[in-house]
This record gives sequence, C-alpha cells and structure tokens, in this order.
Amino acid sequence: MVLRVQEAINEQVNNELSSSYSYLAMSAFCESQNFRGCAKWFRMQSEEETGHAMKLFDFLIARGANVTLDAISRPAPTYKSIAQAFETALKQEIEVSRQIDHLYELAFREKAFSAMAELNWFLTEQVEEERQVREIVAKFNLVKNDAAALLEIDKELGARSAEAK
Ligand SMILES: [Fe+2]
Ligand SMILES: [Fe+2]
Repeated sequence: MVLRVQEAINEQVNNELSSSYSYLAMSAFCESQNFRGCAKWFRMQSEEETGHAMKLFDFLIARGANVTLDAISRPAPTYKSIAQAFETALKQEIEVSRQIDHLYELAFREKAFSAMAELNWFLTEQVEEERQVREIVAKFNLVKNDAAALLEIDKELGARSAEAK
C-alpha cells in the first residue's frame, strides 16, 4: 500500500475520533437538558465512532503501516436545541460520507486493493448512518415543540441497544 493511501487512512482515524468526540459533546448537552434517552443515543454513537477509528487503526497495523495520532478539535459545547444537535450530527455524517468517498477514490486510483476492501465496509456503513440520523431529524421537524412528542422521541432513542445500533 503506497504511503499516500496509508496517510489518508491515518487521517481518517483522526476524523473518526473527532466524530466520536463531537458525539460525546452532544451527549453531554442532552444530559444537561435532561434528555437522557438522546444522551444515551449520542453516547452509543460516540462509542461506535471510536470503533470505526479502531477498525482503521487495526487495518493500518495489519498492513505494517505507522499510525500517528493527531490533535482532535474542540467540539461545540452547546446547541440551540436537542433537534439542532441532531441536525449537526446529520451534517457531520454527510461530511464523513464525503471523506470516505474521497478515500475510496484515492485507493482506487492507487490500486490499493486491500484498502478498497476495507473501505467497502465504511461505504455501506455511511449509508446506514446517514439514514438513521436523517430519520431522527425528520421526527424532530415533525413534532416541533410538542413536549409530549419530544419526550416520546427521547424514550424511543433511549431504547437503542448495541445490537440494533
Ligand atoms: Fe464513523
Ligand atoms: Fe458515523
């Protein structure tokens, strides 16, 4: 695997950890608003992103590449609303999809076939990640400020389990 591809995947390790950190900040925000279900959802999402980073980390190690960790930028500490936190999450997922597309394109151009196989999993995962968050954003748009409905969404998101993702 050429160095350019290794470095780009290394960069994605950092991007996934940034996502994780950002979701953790969203979780803390939801906790502060007593939306404990949403907080749990974001916390699990944060753990998932760490898992993505580790998947790429392990791939680089397996290929004999060096892993260099970079600084993670400071996530927004607060949001206008819970709904806005999810809107930010959706933007973040769309951005990650773009990053994965770029990575895949680079791997393709450089004929890094093992990297393409590894990234295939991420391409599929991003479709699912975007779909999930888009669905939640749509629900928040639908209920607006209806307190009972918001509590219902919180309950539903809090029921997220590790297997169901
Ligand atoms: Fe991810
Ligand atoms: Fe994600």
